[in-house]
Amino acid sequence: MAKSQDVKHDKQRVVELQEQLSHHLHLYHVLDAPEISDGQYDALFDELLKLESLYPDLATPDSPTQRVGGAPLPHFDKVTHTVPMLSLDKCTDAQELEDWIKRCEGLVDDTQRLAFTCEPKIDGVAVALVYEQGQLVLASTRGDGQTGEDITANVRTIASIPLKLRPSPDAPPIPARFEARGEIYMSQDAFDAFNRDALANDQKPLINPRNGAAGSLRQLDPKMTATRPLTWFCYSLGWVEGDDWQPASHSEVIRTFEQWGLRVNPRMDQAPDLPACLAYIEQIRQARASLGYEIDGVVIKVDALDQQQELGAVTRRPRWAIAFKYPSEEAVTVVEGVEFQVGRTGAVTPVARLNPVFVGGVTVSNATLHNMDEVARLDLHVGDTVMIRRAGDVIPQVTAVLSEKRPSGAASIQLPENCPSCGSQVVRVEDEAVARCSNSAHRCPAQRKEGLRHFASRLALDIDGLGDKILEQMVDLELVESAADLFDLTLEQVAGLERMAEKSASNLLAALETSKQTTLARFIYSLGIREVGEATAASLARHFGNLDNLMQADREALENVEDVGPIVASRIHDYFGNADNLAVVTRLIQAGVTWEDVEVSGDAMPLAGQTWVLTGTLEQLKRNDAKAHLVALGAKVAGSVSKNTDQVVAGPGAGSKLTKAQELGVAVMDEAAFVIFLNEQGISL
Ligand code: IVH
Repeated sequence: MAKSQDVKHDKQRVVELQEQLSHHLHLYHVLDAPEISDGQYDALFDELLKLESLYPDLATPDSPTQRVGGAPLPHFDKVTHTVPMLSLDKCTDAQELEDWIKRCEGLVDDTQRLAFTCEPKIDGVAVALVYEQGQLVLASTRGDGQTGEDITANVRTIASIPLKLRPSPDAPPIPARFEARGEIYMSQDAFDAFNRDALANDQKPLINPRNGAAGSLRQLDPKMTATRPLTWFCYSLGWVEGDDWQPASHSEVIRTFEQWGLRVNPRMDQAPDLPACLAYIEQIRQARASLGYEIDGVVIKVDALDQQQELGAVTRRPRWAIAFKYPSEEAVTVVEGVEFQVGRTGAVTPVARLNPVFVGGVTVSNATLHNMDEVARLDLHVGDTVMIRRAGDVIPQVTAVLSEKRPSGAASIQLPENCPSCGSQVVRVEDEAVARCSNSAHRCPAQRKEGLRHFASRLALDIDGLGDKILEQMVDLELVESAADLFDLTLEQVAGLERMAEKSASNLLAALETSKQTTLARFIYSLGIREVGEATAASLARHFGNLDNLMQADREALENVEDVGPIVASRIHDYFGNADNLAVVTRLIQAGVTWEDVEVSGDAMPLAGQTWVLTGTLEQLKRNDAKAHLVALGAKVAGSVSKNTDQVVAGPGAGSKLTKAQELGVAVMDEAAFVIFLNEQGISL
């Protein structure tokens, strides 16, 4: 008797655990809002595994334990798509988009009702998922649009794809059979982590996240796919059987999908007309580098489903949707040579000179190779054909060598023995990838130039008009040796430089004068101490309050500062222990560089624990700088608004995020208020 009660209890517990685990998977992978720790999840999972091994019948296909990957397949079965999977027409400028909208207007009866939705065009792999009675029964690739491959076993391992949908009282009932379509992709973080791991284990890294996703789905062994961190966004309804669910618009479909537990892109938005579409395209262009996943454009769709039908399709492309493509961030070119550059800290970096190529919206003729380990990893030779990548403001990188195209006799690349700038020996510290010029920063011209460039840069003293070419001449003509010399320059000296008229020379002197009024954090940052970036400089300023306290701090005192470990502490200590450096600091202060001391706030970062969201266009400061300032103050900067958001900064053109903030009652400030706030925190722009 007791036994059968136990069995009943166990069976109930299995169902309960399956539901709980599915719920937590949804919270974690779909909503990005976990409620339990990984450890707690694992404990529940283990309990379920144990019970299911006692009652194998209860390990139903939709149990979370059934995701880990089944037996390897001999091949992928073919799947014929009930409704073909189409591709999209493209456009690349406002005129072409306007033409498309005009064409739609000419083809629909009721132009009054013509409205659009906009969403990022994810650079991944298109899939179609069939749900039957709420259960995932088939997942297939696009293939040629008519016939794809059955990748169900692999797709089942993707945690953000529900094996079973969740009926919701606020949503229509789940239809008996329908197909959801979307894009499976690998996030930038997952891609980076995968490659870090691959490199550490001497395995071949993935070329880009798209190849990562495609390759992972092509594994015949689902257990392999299960180890690849994939996710997806659902972006359309393929088909639905029966008449029970009759959504009126694409946006309604997406809203309903979300309610059923499918992962949809929170950045999808509605746009009534061309200007709204263009504003959206601009907004995503700016956010592109911080989305966390790769996109190659924006998809604009006619929202009303009856109008989509009215517009129909031609030659495998719907007339009701169009892709606005951004410039590609990848291109193929040839390495014409490799040179070595010396940085501010003496690091000797190999740089590839490229046959110029248009990538990421600009023509690129150099790409960093980072260090000799990277050259070895790529197995790069002069003359190689390479894949280049330039994403956002990031320096162009060589991501792969197409070694089959290597010309015979191509030269390998050697680290020079002597610094190309000052001729001192180049040394490589054991266990460090970086090679360095062994000369002092004050004596090697290349290090000097880079140090001055850093001193003048936007987040340091922000000296307007002191460009690279000018600095270079100043150093070459020995007008300037250290930063302090900048403030001794005369009008004649500056006006005598090439490309300098009297007017720009006096502007530069005025800019130098203005730059003297700075903040302690900027001043510390401007010194260019190794490993002391903007955030660390800000922590040091807050912790010590004034320069004397910082200069006198021993290693131990330095290690008490937030974010400062033993290495950074010794870099700072060494810096202020060097007579040349002290002389520069003293002369800078004598020259009139000044700031207000900071009220010591211990290490409590003023925005620690807060989440901020930036939206719309910022006019006074660059979005990346705004983000860096917030991070330096301790805030986390998120891409979307939720109930956990503490503050939204909204510039002109802010759309759905602003609306959402208002709905949720999240505090919103405009850019002017934000600038005042930053000033109050000791950050002046
Ligand atoms: S809608 C009728 N929405 O782009 C076509 N496609 O060139 C319906 N894609 O094969 C596609 N993100 O793989 C749509 N938000 C999105 C998308 C998207 C990426 C891909 C999809 C498709 C290709 C079309």
